[in-house]
Order: sequence, then structure tokens, then C-alpha cells
Amino acid sequence: MGVPCVRVPREEGERTRQRLAEADLVGDGYDITVEEGRLYVPVSDASAVPDGFDVVEFDAPVREGQTMPADLLGFEPSYERLGELVIIDEDDPERAQQIADAIVESDLPVEGVLNRASKIKGTERVRDWDVLAGKTTTVVHREYGCAFELDLAEVYFSPRLATERHRVVEQVEAGEHAFDMFAGVGPFVVPFAERGATCVGTDINGVAIEYLRKNAERNGVADRVTAIHGDVREVAGDYEGWADRIVMNLPHSADEFLDTAVALAGDDCTIHYYDIQPDTDSFGPGERAIRAAAEPTYEVTVETRRRVRSYAPGEHNVVLDARLRR
Ligand SMILES: C[S@@+](CC[C@H](N)C(=O)[O-])C[C@H]1O[C@@H](n2cnc3c(N)ncnc32)[C@H](O)[C@@H]1O
Repeated sequence: MGVPCVRVPREEGERTRQRLAEADLVGDGYDITVEEGRLYVPVSDASAVPDGFDVVEFDAPVREGQTMPADLLGFEPSYERLGELVIIDEDDPERAQQIADAIVESDLPVEGVLNRASKIKGTERVRDWDVLAGKTTTVVHREYGCAFELDLAEVYFSPRLATERHRVVEQVEAGEHAFDMFAGVGPFVVPFAERGATCVGTDINGVAIEYLRKNAERNGVADRVTAIHGDVREVAGDYEGWADRIVMNLPHSADEFLDTAVALAGDDCTIHYYDIQPDTDSFGPGERAIRAAAEPTYEVTVETRRRVRSYAPGEHNVVLDARLRR
């Protein structure tokens, strides 16, 4: 049976394996294989593999002695890894429990299995979970070398955005001022600070802010991170004209916060603006909203328009990197 693998020339194998391991993406249970001069590294989540890698289905051998959930179930279940937790998305409770039992019984290193029990909801963008195995919804997840502790029952977090976050992180320069308006547990702020940026993260969810502080400590960047609990519109007054970079990851309503973003922006500021729009006009609404808020005080250049992931049939989660120059 084919499993998703990153395919690279053999001589790039170790470097690639390390990069995937840092992102917690190397698949358990299957062997890394060499065939015709190319190396196949099994991955746990093909959609999270950074752009530029060649992801293919490959018949990688099951690691000797490993029992995988599919061996016990007789079918391949779909699941996501978040640290030592496994997340599934099953409507049928019986099937969900059967999959959870098989995951626990398998050789996967797992502390618990959670099933999605609601959509993401409310201002804090948190969902309900059914705990099908284990006792906790709290986990330590690793992403590109940073560790994030979080409680899925209390805060928003999606491992599927790892590649996109990394794309943004790679643009950050030491010494810059970065403001994350909807910071969550810090998946932008912490790696920004690791690159030497001075960061401010705000969130209306007090539990997320507590985790952001813990995660800044855990990753050794607390001296460059200010975490503020509150509505960003009320906090922004203290940081007018401060930011060289702003992250706005609140896709359904970011447009309502653009006046605040413009108030935060310094003379030359890049805004990473996340949106959910139909495929018929993925970027137009965001670009028009940014221009309406920033022009003519700023000259606006949209430097990147990118589809991050599919959200629903005919709709994508997209990002615009917009540069504002006064
Ligand atoms: C989609 S999550 C993004 C979290 C984080 N940036 C990430 O990528 O994991 C949006 C976050 O915005 C926060 N939020 C919603 N409205 C807010 C507001 N008015 N001011 C500050 N934070 C807000 C929510 O609590 C939530 O943690």
C-alpha cells in the first residue's frame, strides 16, 4: 500500500530527513527506503510538508515488528498527530471508538486519542472534543524546532498551518518589531523571537496568553516576547506606529481589524493577512480591504498572494503579504 513519502536524491537524504524531523513530520512505522538512487522518507502529514519537496505515494515497507492501526482495523484510518495525541474526525461514534482503540493498541507512541466533536466556534476559535483514549487534551507539540504546550480544549491550534507559518518565519530579521494581533499560544511569535525579533502578541483568550508566556519561556525567548491578554483594539494604542511586521490570523473577520493594524504599522510594515474566500475571487476582497484601510497614508504593495489550504468545496484559506510604505 502506498504511503506519502518525500522523494529526494540520495545525497540530500540526511539533510531532508533532519528537516522533516524538526517539523515532526517523519512517519512512524515505515522504513526510509533507497531505490534507484533516490531516498523515500515516509511522512506523517503530506499536507504539512514544506513547499519545494516532492511528495509521492510510495510502497514503503512497514518497519519490522511495528503494528500499525491499519493492521488491527483492516482499513487505513485517517488521523493527524499533535505531539503524543492523535486527532481523528469521525461522525460515527462506534467507528471513532474502534479507530481510537486500534491506535492505542498499535505501536504508535500515543498518550491519547481525540475526536472532533464540533466545528471551531466563537471569538476564541476553540472546538469541543471527545476524549476517546487517554485523559488529557493538553499536549506538547513540536514545529520546526520550537515546542508548544497547549490545551486543545481551551485554545485554538492547528498543526496544518506549520508550512505556512514557516514561510512567514523565514522572512523575519533580527531586531525587527513584530506584532501578532491574534497570537494564540505563540506559533508565530515564538519562532519570530527565535530569529531575533522583538515581539508583541495579543489574544482575547487568557488561557492562550498563559500558554504563550510558558512557550516563550520553554523556548528561551521570553526576554523578546510581550504577551498581552485583551482585545487587540484596546491594546493597540500603546503600540501606535511600532510594527515592522503584523500577523493577522483571524480569517473570517480580519477585515474588521484593519484600522487597528494600520494604527500599529510603522513607516515600512508587512502585514500577513489571512482570509477565507471563494475560489472565484480568493484575493480581491482582502486586497481591497487593505487598500481601503491604508491608502493614501501608505503606499500598498501586495507582495504575495497564496492559497494556504482548502477550507471547503470551492473555498480556500488564503494569505496576502501586503507591504505598507508611508
Ligand atoms: C485562528 S486563531 C489564531 C491563533 C494563532 N495565531 C495560530 O496561528 O495558531 C485566532 C485567535 O484570535 C483570538 N482573538 C479573537 N478575537 C480577538 C481580539 N479581538 N483581540 C485579540 N485576540 C482575538 C482568538 O482567541 C484566537 O486565539
